[in-house]
Amino acid sequence: MFEILEKRTLAEGIYLTRVYAPRIARSAKPGQFIIVRADEKGERIPLTIADYDIEAGSVTMVTQALGVSTRKIVAKEVGECFADVAGPLGRPSDFVTEPLEELRNKRFVFIGGGVGTAPVYPQVKWLSEHGIKADVIVGAKSKDMLIYTQEMERVAGNLYICTDDGSEGFHGLVTARLEQLITEEGKQYDCCVAIGPMIMMKFVTLTAKKFDLPCIVSLNALMVDGTGMCGACRVSVGGKTRFTCVDGPEFNAYEVDFDEAMRRQGMYRTQEQRALAIARERAEGHKCNIGLDK
Ligand code: NAD
Ligand code: FES
Repeated sequence: MFEILEKRTLAEGIYLTRVYAPRIARSAKPGQFIIVRADEKGERIPLTIADYDIEAGSVTMVTQALGVSTRKIVAKEVGECFADVAGPLGRPSDFVTEPLEELRNKRFVFIGGGVGTAPVYPQVKWLSEHGIKADVIVGAKSKDMLIYTQEMERVAGNLYICTDDGSEGFHGLVTARLEQLITEEGKQYDCCVAIGPMIMMKFVTLTAKKFDLPCIVSLNALMVDGTGMCGACRVSVGGKTRFTCVDGPEFNAYEVDFDEAMRRQGMYRTQEQRALAIARERAEGHKCNIGLDK
């Protein structure tokens, strides 16, 4: 069973859960993800790996409690178990297989937006462990919503914090900070990696394009099986259909059809909201009357 070893609140509605999963911890690489089922009847939820510890046999995930299933995941306490944790899934980040001599000459800038900051961490940490210090831009709505900044400080070359409301660091979006670093502070990069909301990744890609900066994004498409069988996670990349779970989750950002990916991501929003309303009513002990409570 996958016992929860640690649980912490990182920001409002965002939780860190460290779970005992020694086989996953042994084979996990930066860029990969896991699929979690809170209980026997739970939905399969894909979550990017935020850290792994081979000695402790643990894997860390960061979950934003948005729908019924993510709420079930974050409701679990230390000592309780998840029904399944499957992984590591997906392809590791490309840099893991690049020759180290080449990698050491590469200037990386990572961009983490909101909850997407957590999966940036194992990538920057891996590079740091291999003698490569990357610049990292982290963005959040406000100071209270910033996550993983202390961890990132330890492994990044430079950490640039941005908040939409200016309550900490640079006042503005991550894209404006990237542009400022390049045009005003003379920074030069060979590779940009962006992980966060789809809209952020789209605009980071447009900004990177202005500077001919190669860019990689990690897509968080809807998933069911996570093994390339169901087609739920399909995205268009370079005009071809690709499955995020087996061909990704990381892709060349210049080739991603973000508008289509955003449309597909929103496909089940109504059903998700209804499911949440039903769960809330049940929790309050009322009979739900919105038509789906069968
Ligand atoms: P958010 O809306 O607070 O945005 C985070 C930062 O992204 C902002 O502070 C801003 O700097 C930047 N940003 C947002 N919109 C932008 C735009 N139009 N142009 C330029 N920059 C922009 O983030 P959140 O509320 O934490 O987002 C949660 C989303 O992240 C969810 O949709 C979740 O699915 C997604 N997510 C993605 C991954 C992934 O692997 N790609 C991982 C975890 C979460
Ligand atoms: Fe089913 Fe990717 S989740 S093919």
